[in-house]
Parts: sequence; C-alpha cells; structure tokens
Amino acid sequence: MAEIAKEIAECKKCELWKSRKNVVPGEGNVDANVMFIGEAPGYWEDVKGRPFVGAAGKLLDKLLENIGLSRNEVFIGNILKCRPPQNRDPRPDEIEACTPYLDRQIRVIQPKIMVTLGRHSTAYIFNKVGLKFYGISRLHGRIYEVTVLDLPVVLIPMYHPAVALYNARLKDDLKMDFEVLRNVLSERVF
Ligand code: URA
Ligand code: SF4
Repeated sequence: MAEIAKEIAECKKCELWKSRKNVVPGEGNVDANVMFIGEAPGYWEDVKGRPFVGAAGKLLDKLLENIGLSRNEVFIGNILKCRPPQNRDPRPDEIEACTPYLDRQIRVIQPKIMVTLGRHSTAYIFNKVGLKFYGISRLHGRIYEVTVLDLPVVLIPMYHPAVALYNARLKDDLKMDFEVLRNVLSERVF
C-alpha cells in the first residue's frame, strides 16, 4: 500500500496533477473488511492530503460512529486521488487514468464489503462487475453480491455524504443505509 501511495505522489497521468496541493491516496486499515470508495478530494482533502476531512467527512465520521465503526478499522479511498478544480465532476479520461491505483488498493485490502459513496464510484464498480447502473437514488442501500477483481464482495451503494449534508431526507436515507451495513456486519462471519 505504501508503494502505491508513493507512485500516486509522483503521478502525472492526468492533468489534475498540475492544480493539486497534495495527493489523497486514501487511508485506513490495510486488512479492513469494509472499504469505502468516495469520489475525489475536495478543498480540505487537497490541503491535508487525507480523505474525507471536510464537512462531508464529519458526517461520514458520525455515520461510522452511529454503527460502532472507527476509521481505524475501515479503509477510505476515492476514485480520483487529486482534486478536480472547483470540485467539478471527475471526467471519464481522469477516471480511466486513475482507477488502476484504486484497483491495486482493492487487491491489497481484499475487502469483504464495499461501500460506494455516490454515483461515480457506484457506476465505476457496477461497470466493472457487469451490472447496469440506473441511478443512485433507485439502488442505494441495496445489497449486491458481486465478484470484484476475482474477490467475492458484498457491495452496498450509498448516497455521497456531501449531497446529504444539506438535504434532511437524503441524510435519513444515508443513516438507514448505514444500518444495512451494520446488519451485514453483524449477520456475517468474515
Ligand atoms: N468527497 C469525496 O468523495 N472524497 C473525499 O475524500 C472527500 C470528499
Ligand atoms: Fe494521477 Fe490520479 Fe492524480 Fe490524475 S488524479 S494525476 S491519474 S493520481
């Protein structure tokens, strides 16, 4: 994992290297059962070089705490490791350039459960496993038993915490989806 982070730190495979302050390779437990996959660094992540440390990160911390998980026992990564200017959506060419790092991280961690946060990471994993992505609002909180890079994985797509920040209904949905995660963790022996 350290070797992957080192390569990311020197990466110039897409244009985002020019405007980044820091890369955000992701962090957490390399043996985690649960891997969260977000979208891309925002302002504070770019400043600190760490995932989910801004407002959305605070909400993620709370959601984790609600179900008795700490950051130390999970891994938190992103589709892109560098911040897109003005937090614009990741572009397809950037996703293509960057996701080999994510795939390598998945192979190292071998997570039993994958939580994709938002439509970009959900669409990426859905595409990988041959599932049709038809919108995060219609499939969040569902459980998909899939094979990702030859690994059996329980996939639970969820809304991105950033969109739930200012929308009470989506926040409730996100809380309920974390209860789905709690149930999967309590029902299965990994
Ligand atoms: N949003 C993301 O998708 N990832 C981060 O690391 C922070 C905010
Ligand atoms: Fe490299 Fe990914 Fe950063 Fe682009 S976003 S420069 S591919 S690490």
